[in-house]
Amino acid sequence: MTDQTNDRKIEHIRAIEKDAATDRDGRYFDRIHLTHRALPEVALDQIDTSVEFLGKRLSFPLLISSMTGGDHELIRTINRNLAIAAEQTGVALAVGSQRVMFTQPGARVSFELREYAPTTVLCSNVGAVQLNYGFDIAKCQEAVDCLGADALYLHLNPLQEAVQPEGDTDFSGLTSKIADLVEQLTVPVMFKEVGCGLSSQDIEAGLKLGVKHFDLAGCGGTSWSRIEYHRARNVSDNLGLTFQDWGIPTPLALRLAEPYQQQADFIASGGLRDGIDMIKSVILGASICGMATPFLKPAMESADAVVQVIEQIRREFTTAMFLLGMSDINSVYMNRALILSEGEDRN
Ligand SMILES: Cc1cc2nc3c(=O)[nH]c(=O)nc-3n(C[C@H](O)[C@H](O)[C@H](O)COP(=O)(O)O)c2cc1C
Repeated sequence: MTDQTNDRKIEHIRAIEKDAATDRDGRYFDRIHLTHRALPEVALDQIDTSVEFLGKRLSFPLLISSMTGGDHELIRTINRNLAIAAEQTGVALAVGSQRVMFTQPGARVSFELREYAPTTVLCSNVGAVQLNYGFDIAKCQEAVDCLGADALYLHLNPLQEAVQPEGDTDFSGLTSKIADLVEQLTVPVMFKEVGCGLSSQDIEAGLKLGVKHFDLAGCGGTSWSRIEYHRARNVSDNLGLTFQDWGIPTPLALRLAEPYQQQADFIASGGLRDGIDMIKSVILGASICGMATPFLKPAMESADAVVQVIEQIRREFTTAMFLLGMSDINSVYMNRALILSEGEDRN
């Protein structure tokens, strides 16, 4: 037996496989040029890329962003491979929406990942709007307990829901429900967009509710609007295409977050594609950097394939630190002197 939430996950993956342009390839970070040091005065093999996140040590500031979960062999394979690779490389992993656990009991096992990732940071995920559709605090806690999570991502996805044929679009009155959740959940609640970015107003709203972690998930990478366009019931329904590039580009979202740096941790995601995008994000104030799509295909293959991608990104990130003359992350974080100019696109 299967249900709509479960089928949807597979349809999303197939849409991404079929249409490369669901990754919008905005390359917004290319406009930022860094201060190359010809005399870096650091030893490449002594650079310390490690960071603390949610009370645990990561080998470098990478998070595999939320993708999937459900009752399907492909989905179980993806999550298992991601968890093994995250543990092996010392990076964080967030799972996709766990709502499906409650509509399709067979989906639960795809989120039972602690056995594969006993020590690293794992993050649960639930759509905030579901708090208006019968998803209560007890279910959020169950989602966290099932994963053994260090935090819960509450994703905010109004565009995706608006374009989705069966979308849940009543976002009214959510803040008081989120406030109760923040108060009662045993782990921190983190806000996250899914590719349209969080604005200053969203950050302020979250701070008032006690949220201390914000994943900006700006535009420039995966477009949920375009993915949902492929699922539109009516072929003449172009809403998803019209809005495919809607939102706040991730570097701009980082700038908007700047005044709140003392009050919260920011995660940069949405269109980051290599270690250079990561270092630019840290310079702009990100404590952690997330990527989703770059890990999807390797995760369908094997844990080793995911490890290879992570190690490539690590090498890019470390090389960038070397070329900036930086020996640890603290000296990179918010160091605006490392930005030489913000100019034209490469293309
Ligand atoms: C296949 C796939 C499934 C996703 N499912 C979720 C989800 O369930 N919950 C969520 O918060 N974000 C989800 N996302 C969004 C990502 O976590 C991320 O915010 C977005 O893709 C932007 O990052 P990217 O440009 O690196 O892909 C998903 C992304 C992908 C590619």
